[in-house]
Amino acid sequence: GKGTTRTFRVWRGGGDGELTTYEVEVNEGEVVLDVLHRLQATQTPDLAVRWNCKAGKCGSCSMEINGRPRLSCMARMSTFAPDETVTVMPMRTFPVIRDLVCDVSYNYAKAREIPSFTPDPATAPGDFRMGQEDVQRSQEFRKCIECFLCQNVCHVIRDHEENKENFSGPRFLMRVSELEMHPEDTADRRMISQDEFGLGYCNITKCCTEVCPENIQITDNALIPMKERVAGRRYDPLVWLGSKIGLR
Ligand code: FES
Repeated sequence: GKGTTRTFRVWRGGGDGELTTYEVEVNEGEVVLDVLHRLQATQTPDLAVRWNCKAGKCGSCSMEINGRPRLSCMARMSTFAPDETVTVMPMRTFPVIRDLVCDVSYNYAKAREIPSFTPDPATAPGDFRMGQEDVQRSQEFRKCIECFLCQNVCHVIRDHEENKENFSGPRFLMRVSELEMHPEDTADRRMISQDEFGLGYCNITKCCTEVCPENIQITDNALIPMKERVAGRRYDPLVWLGSKIGLR
């Protein structure tokens, strides 16, 4: 049957664009991305929106919906109040190309800076055995769909362009942590995680963890363990322990 008419405000233009108001039909069971597609089909064919799977798995459709960083294909219309205006903005931490599409190349540049998996050359092919605990740890991190919502929400770089050069963001600090904890990886990533990737900027506010659509415990399972490893390496263990229990 016929749906209801809802008010949408959608960012149009580049970084200096503006919100434009639309009245648009919404049907039962739809998500925000469906409504954006209806706007494209009926009112504004040039609306730029990036998407691919419509199943929460490709990580393409990230945006900010009523101020919350979310995947638009997983944002059910039924979760908004019946008369609530839905405001859709591009992610704030990355430059806007047009409308809802951002230039996320910062993330690809940071990914390339991480030294790749470095197995022990002494281990013969087929000899390496990985413990189940280690498998499960990296499997959690491998659930990442690279939607970059964690990067977008991180206060270190959100509104702080000047920190981008020295900070890789939660997604890539998690990758460093994954490799550091990998039993067969021989590279020591502790100093570079601090000096090159900016681990010290993170003060564990857990904003990244809260927005992760895969519910990866980025802060507790990747960033905090990495911080503990860095602390253990950087300082004399007794001094570090003293600081932990407030003695110094
Ligand atoms: Fe793939 Fe939303 S379209 S995650």
